[in-house]
Amino acid sequence: MSDEHVRQATVFGSFAEEYDRWRPGYPDEAVDWLLPPGARDVLDLGAGTGKLTASLLARDLRVTVVEPDPAMLAVLTRAHPSVVVHRAGADALPLPDRSVDAVVVGQAWHWFPHEAAVAEVRRVLRPGGWLGVVWNLPDDREPWERDLAELDPERDVRSRALVPTSGPPEVEGLPAGEVQRTSVHWTWELAPDDVRAMLATDSRIAVLPERERDELLDASAAVVTAEAHRRGAETVPLHRVSVCFRWRPGGW
Ligand SMILES: C[S@@+](CC[C@H](N)C(=O)[O-])C[C@H]1O[C@@H](n2cnc3c(N)ncnc32)[C@H](O)[C@@H]1O
Repeated sequence: MSDEHVRQATVFGSFAEEYDRWRPGYPDEAVDWLLPPGARDVLDLGAGTGKLTASLLARDLRVTVVEPDPAMLAVLTRAHPSVVVHRAGADALPLPDRSVDAVVVGQAWHWFPHEAAVAEVRRVLRPGGWLGVVWNLPDDREPWERDLAELDPERDVRSRALVPTSGPPEVEGLPAGEVQRTSVHWTWELAPDDVRAMLATDSRIAVLPERERDELLDASAAVVTAEAHRRGAETVPLHRVSVCFRWRPGGW
């Protein structure tokens, strides 16, 4: 794991409140697909401030949270004081063997040490249980959205690796041929300043030198402002896609 990877994986706590304010949650259709039927005990791994946790609690599930960053956990426990939380990483889950029906991961699998995480997920899952992994990604349908993407070519490289293609579904670290995939498309109404604030919570953007970061965020807001003017509206519909994967040890 490179120093840069570690730097980005551990930066979230420095803007935990902003993360919670500006990041979206996950569509119900996506969350339902990630969970095995009849699941009761669910681990939210890399839970951050609780974006996915909230959807699990809304389904009356018994939720356990594992998250290494204390600042992210503080925001999560303020909103969900009754949830069982552990400050730990995906490489060493403080849970007994065969103790959960599902492990779910929102927007975080790419930060984990995959070999250790897969071994731990295998260990804590009950027979028949599965791992559900989801990413909210840009779904650049409109010309102005493609303009936005071009301002940040790095984002596109990463997104293209995750967005569905016609090929077999694959997730880094998970056994090839054992993963299922679905995608849920949705739109998000945001004002130009909202887009700026949301992009500022992208860890890769957050670690840029201040001037470079501000230039990127200002240019992004300008693209959204131009589109809002064109529409005669204060907000624009940002197209997103929740790309969901699931893996069951032992096969489907
Ligand atoms: C982009 S946030 C996602 C938070 C939340 N799951 C969500 O859906 O908004 C990524 C989270 O992964 C956590 N994380 C980074 N490395 C981790 C690791 N090795 N094990 C567990 N969590 C990790 C970070 O602290 C951060 O809270």
